[in-house]
Amino acid sequence: MLVVNTVKALQETLTAHRLKGKKTALVPTMGNLHKGHLQLVKTAQKHADIVVVTLFVNPMQFGANEDLDRYPRTFRSDCDQLKTLDTDILFAPVIDEIYPRGGDNTTQVRVPHVTTVLCGASRPGHFDGVTTIVTKLFNITRADVAIFGEKDYQQLAVIRRMVDDLNIPISIIGEPIIRETDGLAMSSRNGYLSKEQRLLAPRFHGILTHIKQRIIDGNRDFSKLETTAKNQLCELGFKPDYLHIYQHDELRPATINDTKLVIVAAVFVGSTRLIDNLHVHCTETTVLI
Ligand code: PAF
Repeated sequence: MLVVNTVKALQETLTAHRLKGKKTALVPTMGNLHKGHLQLVKTAQKHADIVVVTLFVNPMQFGANEDLDRYPRTFRSDCDQLKTLDTDILFAPVIDEIYPRGGDNTTQVRVPHVTTVLCGASRPGHFDGVTTIVTKLFNITRADVAIFGEKDYQQLAVIRRMVDDLNIPISIIGEPIIRETDGLAMSSRNGYLSKEQRLLAPRFHGILTHIKQRIIDGNRDFSKLETTAKNQLCELGFKPDYLHIYQHDELRPATINDTKLVIVAAVFVGSTRLIDNLHVHCTETTVLI
């Protein structure tokens, strides 16, 4: 695996591959890799000849009171895991390489509307940081395809919208959530959980699964389902940030006529914020109650 730290070196390497007719896939990460990230790499390998994983903890997407300083930096273990998959290139720049004029003086990319709901409502400016770094990585690598995890449901929707709005010549692939055996969605932030919090955390997915079953059983009182679930989460010891039933690809609340839905939620367990989502496809035979 080639480890590259500068934009210039990465571009020279990728240009050489492109001239030989090779396709490039991009897997953007902030490091602290787990099985979910490795699955993104495996999928990338199916879609291209050269896979570039980027490792950059992007300060622009963290709010003032968020976990930028304590975000786990595990470079050695990340490299070791990527090598087991024969990853071609790891791009791991320092902050000045990406924002030489400083983050505040850098041109930003902002996708309107879809970034102001759900996580965007509780983390103002977060998605501007994401879309700015992702655009930069798209431009730096000129990748043919990029892979993102579906756990960050809204992030994926925002990136798809940006690519469409700005006619960026790249294909975006979403990779299904990888879960622990107890149902907890894999996340770099799970490492923050204490032993007790880790035991509680899978109940979050359990509540989403329960709503899914109620919808499949024909319940269309989405607002009541949301309120009941939020109360249950509070009783269990979570602090819900949001929990909504949305139409699955338009980032808007579901209506009674929608058949492709997604339950999207964010909760705090202590000071750790977890997100998760679950798709629900209703069939025409679903009985409404
Ligand atoms: O999903 C993440 O890890 C980050 O938001 C991303 C896409 C790497 C941008 O920093």
